[in-house]
Amino acid sequence: MASRPRNPFTPGFGRHPTIVVGRDEILADAREAFGDDWHPTRKMLLQAHRGSGKTVLLDEIQDIATAAGWLVVQEDAGTRDTSISARLTTRLLSYLDEHDPDARRRITGGSVSVLGIGASVSTELSDDHDSPGGLRETLEAVLDLDDGRPTGVLLSIDEIHEASRDDVHAIGNAIQHLDRSSQPIGVLLAGLPPDADVEKEPTFLSRCHAPKIEILRDDEIEQGLIETAATAGWVFDSDALELAVNTTAGFPYMMQLVGWEATKVTRRRREGTAITYGDVALAVPEARRTLARSVLFHIDKRLTPTEKEFLVAMAHDSGPSKMKDIRERMGQTAQYVNVYRNRLLDASLIQQIKHGHVDFAVPGHRAELRADVGYAAAQASHARRND
Ligand SMILES: Nc1ncnc2c1ncn2[C@@H]1O[C@H](COP(=O)(O)OP(=O)(O)OP(=O)(O)O)[C@@H](O)[C@H]1O
Ligand SMILES: [Mg+2]
Repeated sequence: MASRPRNPFTPGFGRHPTIVVGRDEILADAREAFGDDWHPTRKMLLQAHRGSGKTVLLDEIQDIATAAGWLVVQEDAGTRDTSISARLTTRLLSYLDEHDPDARRRITGGSVSVLGIGASVSTELSDDHDSPGGLRETLEAVLDLDDGRPTGVLLSIDEIHEASRDDVHAIGNAIQHLDRSSQPIGVLLAGLPPDADVEKEPTFLSRCHAPKIEILRDDEIEQGLIETAATAGWVFDSDALELAVNTTAGFPYMMQLVGWEATKVTRRRREGTAITYGDVALAVPEARRTLARSVLFHIDKRLTPTEKEFLVAMAHDSGPSKMKDIRERMGQTAQYVNVYRNRLLDASLIQQIKHGHVDFAVPGHRAELRADVGYAAAQASHARRND
């Protein structure tokens, strides 16, 4: 068989998509933020559940900052044991070393040799990152360089929910100090929404600009599917496209899953580059299974019992739920139930359809909850009450 066009979809966590769909407003804000003198959006927190596209946005914003002449220092809070502020400091020290070894020596007291991103520096740095040799002083030194001074410095941290409170405080202190003295400094954080049972979030996080990572619109998804497919020469038939858009339900990871599976089916079934309705229909169950395993499962693990109870109360309905019905099913006051509605809205797990109505935001979530034992129990008790 002649070699077939490649599969251009990217259904993997942290995989940069061939075509970035939507997010226009957040990206426009970022373009302003790194162009202007000062901008609140330079401190940005992207918080949403798994697969909503945080890492993709982080990459896009980093590119915007780099293009504007900023130095971007990126670290994942989840990957290693050393503190994230120490790792950022180490990176900045290497930059300093490249451009002005004397300035670096002034900070580290000449005792530490900086070899790239080695652990040697981070272990010898003081834990108190406001003290000499800490993050703040290193940032100041980079912004003070004669030669190689970047337009600004952006600290970018993915998986921030894995960082310790102390670490977040250390970074927050350094940033706020420099920000107050009008230095060009930015911080870009991405991570999962906080668990309800942890005490209050560190203040620094609550002071960041936190745009909502919205569900993508159907027309954006449609355009994304068409354009992504076209990069490798594939074309969706119009009824196939409609089915793919409906199955995706605005969820970027699901768009990649449906696109990937459909292209895979087409490649196996026949010659030619048309993706048909039948191909998408065959692809949907596998896409749903993967979504359930890699996203819904993780969402479920992080829910508090009351959040789960709220969602289970919603799962009784086959479409959008009335808040009034949810209150009744939970047997709670409006005030109590609204607290959980707001939490789930903030976490982008539900969406407000119209006044007093909410619906699930992640495709397949209702079906997944209905298959859960908790749902069976809630339904039985609901039936008993209505007898
Ligand atoms: N705007 C987008 N356009 C197209 N595809 C996207 C977009 N955002 C995310 N994706 C795709 O969705 C998947 C998940 O994206 P990403 O890794 O950014 O999610 P995340 O929110 O960082 O997830 P996690 O919490 O697990 O780290 C990837 O396959 C990515 O290619
Ligand atoms: Mg991510």
